[in-house]
Amino acid sequence: MTTTATARSHWTSRWAFIMVTAGSAIGLGNIWKFPYMTGTNGGSAFVLVYLACIVGIGLPLLMAETLLGRRGQGNPMDAMGNVAREAGSGSYWKIVGFIGITGALLILSFYSVVAGWILEYMVRSFSGFTGITAETAASGFGSLLGNPLKMAMWHTVFMIMTVAVVARGVTGGIEKANKILMPALFGIVVALIIYGFVAADMPAAIRFMFHFDASQITPAVIFSAMGHSFFTLSLGMGSIMAYGSYLDRNTSIARNCFYVAVADTLIALLAGLAIFSIVFAKGLAPAAGPGLILQTLPMAFSQMPFGQAVGVSFFVLVAFAAWTSSISLLEPFVAFLVEKFSVDRKVAAWGTGFAVWLLGIAVCLSFNDWGGVKLFGLGIFDLLDSLTSKILMPLSGLLIAIFVGWVMKKQHVSDEVALSAGGMSLWYNVMRFVSPIVITLIFMNVMGWIG
Ligand code: TRP
Repeated sequence: MTTTATARSHWTSRWAFIMVTAGSAIGLGNIWKFPYMTGTNGGSAFVLVYLACIVGIGLPLLMAETLLGRRGQGNPMDAMGNVAREAGSGSYWKIVGFIGITGALLILSFYSVVAGWILEYMVRSFSGFTGITAETAASGFGSLLGNPLKMAMWHTVFMIMTVAVVARGVTGGIEKANKILMPALFGIVVALIIYGFVAADMPAAIRFMFHFDASQITPAVIFSAMGHSFFTLSLGMGSIMAYGSYLDRNTSIARNCFYVAVADTLIALLAGLAIFSIVFAKGLAPAAGPGLILQTLPMAFSQMPFGQAVGVSFFVLVAFAAWTSSISLLEPFVAFLVEKFSVDRKVAAWGTGFAVWLLGIAVCLSFNDWGGVKLFGLGIFDLLDSLTSKILMPLSGLLIAIFVGWVMKKQHVSDEVALSAGGMSLWYNVMRFVSPIVITLIFMNVMGWIG
């Protein structure tokens, strides 16, 4: 396509695309959110539906979003506009890009606050957590939630880190660090798994996460698991579309997306097992909610050999994983401002970052002073989380599937994904039928429109 006048920067290698996309996908969603959602949604039922959603909807959509970005060669709004024009359809498809770039900012506002918790624990982990017990671990987390100033300070630090990279531009900033730190994160999670086997209750964790019990699968569990499968693969919010637009033409979309989905799922499952082995060994509550990892892991770090070093490295790497994800949440909107209104990249990044930061301050307060502020029965944090994961992401995924499956010319689609004939027909049918129907049914069920 030669629709853009300016030359767009591209990743320096194929490996780089896998690493940055994995960097976007792997983040707090895997290490913080997946374990606590599994815990609050009954364990194996959630895991099973989540896995089914990754295979049946998530990975196919990951490919679709990448191909839209690459073919559209622009920020998510322009990419959608370009591809729609090529397909002979209207520019109203830009709405998909719009939902993405703005939804991503909503996510970033609370994501950065949680990343701030990780930074606080990174500092705390230098103490080695000596003498920590289940009670002091819980009260230690509670005291953080009750301290809006401290939370706001770390949130500020994390937003500055995020903006600083985006202001510099993707290929310069984002790429390099990912290549080293993602494999390191994998290593430390494996170390925790080993600890789980040796010193904690791994069999109980395995039972909790994989013992199949169909009776636990409720509409609420399905809804949460579908939302999380979107969240963990960074779907529907422009991140993947923006990164796909920096991907060169010769790289296989199918193969690389497959690697990303496998790496993402593996990290989540391993993190879940490590955490639940500690939860059960210490007699803690799996359904503790968003504080789950912060109330369990410090106890393991206080007891294991080299626990202080392991703890520090763990929090450093998780903070890093969160950083590479948050960058991908800010990039789409900034790319839009830069390309659409010729705003200077630095100005666009700092300006957008400031708006997100403000909303994040409200998130910090929602855990304490503004705890009583509720909309639809939800506090600010829960509201932003539910609105994005349960509504905006599935909605955008639905529209993407319809667009790729029904609006684009099949030839163009197959040129991009470059799958074998069998693979193409399978994936294409998922786009046309399976994804739209399943997402719609889940939606309708939750809205109470069908039994
Ligand atoms: N996937 C990331 C995680 O699991 C978060 C993330 C980055 C994201 N970009 C996104 C979530 C876009 C939804 C949409 O931590």
